[in-house]
Amino acid sequence: MDTDQPRLSTRVSRLKSSLVRDILAAATQPGVISFAGGLPAADLMPAFPLETIASPALYQYGCSEGEPAFRKAVANWIGETGFDVSPSQVLALAGSQQGLDFAAKLLIDSGTPMLTEAPTYVAALQVFELFGADIQTVELTPHGPDLAHLETMLEKHRPSCIYLVPCFQNPSGACYTPEMRTAVAELLDRYRVTVIEDEPYRSVALDVAHPMLPICAQLRHSDWIYLGSFSKILWPGCRIGYLAASPRLMPHLVRLKQAADLHTQRPAQAAVAHWLNSGQKEADLQNLRDGYRIRRDAMQAALTRHFGELAEWEMPRGGLFFWLRLREHRATCADLDRALAQNVAFMPGEAFYPGQRQGQQTLRLNYSCATPQDMEIGLARLAACLTEETCTA
Ligand SMILES: Cc1ncc(COP(=O)(O)O)c(C=O)c1O
Repeated sequence: MDTDQPRLSTRVSRLKSSLVRDILAAATQPGVISFAGGLPAADLMPAFPLETIASPALYQYGCSEGEPAFRKAVANWIGETGFDVSPSQVLALAGSQQGLDFAAKLLIDSGTPMLTEAPTYVAALQVFELFGADIQTVELTPHGPDLAHLETMLEKHRPSCIYLVPCFQNPSGACYTPEMRTAVAELLDRYRVTVIEDEPYRSVALDVAHPMLPICAQLRHSDWIYLGSFSKILWPGCRIGYLAASPRLMPHLVRLKQAADLHTQRPAQAAVAHWLNSGQKEADLQNLRDGYRIRRDAMQAALTRHFGELAEWEMPRGGLFFWLRLREHRATCADLDRALAQNVAFMPGEAFYPGQRQGQQTLRLNYSCATPQDMEIGLARLAACLTEETCTA
């Protein structure tokens, strides 16, 4: 035995590094124009209500499920989507990423068949792969999955769970229509697939006319875990999110929370509960949406100038990203290195697929942080970089 090597679990050999987090350091170097991350705009975050975290009582240990006031406020917040859940079904989380970890621990053994959209959220893939899921994918259109393909995959692979991001998906911006939500819920119910629905971008809705009743709200037989986050609308550094779950999953999720970190930090729960109950909420959300709409439109204009001939895309109606399909060229991880050398960062589409060699002509661009001027310079630089001879397919 090689005594110089640490003795690690088999599971850890499946743990890949997250490209998003890896390039964050490079992308935040001075001089780099970054379209790579998913950071919300700092100038659009509401002021943190410092006075709500002053009580010394908040600095004692708390209960694993979360603060009663937080759970109640979150149940009401979820209720605004048309989904009726009780506070006893809510668990406070250290960001919705923690909910993905719990969902994986709860549902996935090595070899467990599961479905995700293709493309999908890269850090969800990271955790599902860590636990050894046998991940199969369903093609995603801008309005939801290809239903015929979904049914084929359900029939063929009999997955035990599925991971969906139906509102302004990261990375593609796809947003399921009401009909699609109902059709997907019916199919998943029929195959008794446990649904993990992840909605951090629901409130970053810029111009959506239709209602977006969660898929979990429409299930009658399948178990479900519904994940939400305050990272994209409030203070991501507080690491605060939540889940709601079907009653028979809840006791297991609470025990996973106990085993992971005892409970979510109480001051952040107090601050978020205060915001949810305050009269300021609607005005803050409106301000956020107005700010993002301006940036989204500026990015759309700059993209049309610099990528109009090179790529096609749907203008996102919410969320934080543009998803481009290049007509001829590629935008792989190797191309990212060359772009970084030119001081511009993007996310190669291939990071958002579980298999190898998929998505090589796609890329994700974040629009929430760059100024219009940086969009202009950065996209011109990126277009030049991706169309150099060495980048062509
Ligand atoms: C689809 C999706 N799920 C979950 C998360 C994690 O969010 P949180 O900050 O709440 O952990 C993100 C963050 O970018 C995301 O895009």
